[in-house]
Parts: sequence; C-alpha cells; structure tokens
Amino acid sequence: MSETKPTDRVALGSTPTLSAKGPSISKTVQTHLVFPEHANALGKAFGGQVMAWIDLVGGICAMRHTGGLAVTASVDDLQFEQSLAIGDIAVVEARVNATFRTSLEVEVSVWGESLQTRARWLCVNARMTFVAIDEHAKPRSVPPLVPESDDDVARMKAAQERRNERLAKRKR
Ligand SMILES: CC(C)(COP(=O)(O)OP(=O)(O)OC[C@H]1O[C@@H](n2cnc3c(N)ncnc32)[C@H](O)[C@@H]1OP(=O)(O)O)[C@@H](O)C(=O)NCCC(=O)NCCS
Repeated sequence: MSETKPTDRVALGSTPTLSAKGPSISKTVQTHLVFPEHANALGKAFGGQVMAWIDLVGGICAMRHTGGLAVTASVDDLQFEQSLAIGDIAVVEARVNATFRTSLEVEVSVWGESLQTRARWLCVNARMTFVAIDEHAKPRSVPPLVPESDDDVARMKAAQERRNERLAKRKR
C-alpha cells in the first residue's frame, strides 16, 4: 500500500469515486483480547459486545469499499456457534461479498483463538447489508466489486440469491 500524507485525505462530504475494486482492498481484520469488561456472569463474551465488534468491523469494511459513509441496513440471521471466554483472543474479519446499486453485502466472521495453542474456532458468521449514503444521508451508488478468485465469484452469486430473498421478504 502506498503511503498517504494528511494532505491526500479526501473530505467526507466530497463525492467518492465509483472505480471498481476487488474484495482484498476492503478486507478488514480486528483483534481483541477478551477482558472481564467484555464478559457476562459466566465469564463468556457478552453477545451484545460481539455484535458491536461485528457492526464496527463490517462498517469499516463497507466504508473502505464505498469510499465514504455507509449505514447498517440489516443483519441476516445471526447464530452464536461457540463462545469466547475471558483470556481468549477474538479475531473479527470482514469482507465484501457483493455490491448492488446503493447497497452491499458484507460477511463478518468472529473467530476465537487460544492464547496457548493458537487453535481457532468459529464463533459467529454474520451477513450484513450496508447502504452507502451521501452528505444528506441519502443512498448513493457504490463502486462495483471485481472478483479476484473463483471463491469471490461463488460468493457474489450466493449473495445475489440472498438479496433476492431479502427483497422478496421486505415486499411481503
Ligand atoms: C438504510 C437506509 C439508508 C435506506 O434508505 P431508503 O430511503 O429506505 O432507501 P431505498 O429504499 O432507496 O433503498 C436503498 C438501498 O437500501 C437497501 N435496503 C433498504 N432497507 C434494507 C434492509 N432492511 N435490508 C437490506 N437492504 C435494505 C435497498 O435494497 C436499496 O439497495 P440497492 O440500492 O442496492 O437496491 C435507511 O432506511 C436508513 O437510514 N436506515 C437507518 C440506518 C441506521 O440508522 N443504521 C444504524 C446506524 S449505522
């Protein structure tokens, strides 16, 4: 990545470009150590805390892709598969699966990681829809996503099917 000087920064109010980007450009990873203040009475990470991490990392990923502000529109069914205990490492990873007109689907995975063994386990996998907004908080077009691998192509196709289901559900 080339170095950016403070003078190269673009003001948030300016219109972001619509140049196509690959998912690797916006991939976002955040790592936490689970502390007592993140935990519930059982010493496991509180679900609301994990959801806040998911929303933040997914949002940064969406905004990296769109080059401006984006808001959370929806989160598909969220399942907590396995827990995180105090002292575990939490790795929150987000990537863009597909872009539409003004919205995009971002997939966020939360992994637990053992400090001792570095073994990893999946805690949560969430698919979120973000909508890019302009300075008047109105939806604006998003840059297209260019697949970089066969996996990216498969993800785009599956995301399109999920979008069709979401749109059908909203019409009901
Ligand atoms: C999300 C929001 C910007 C959509 O605005 P809107 O005027 O309803 O816009 P539209 O109906 O034109 O839809 C715009 C896009 O959002 C998508 N969208 C709207 N609601 C959605 C939902 N519940 N789930 C998934 N996508 C949704 C539409 O499909 C459309 O996508 P497309 O342009 O790619 O086809 C608006 O509802 C909003 O601001 N909601 C509150 C967001 C918020 O406060 N989030 C939490 C804090 S970040």
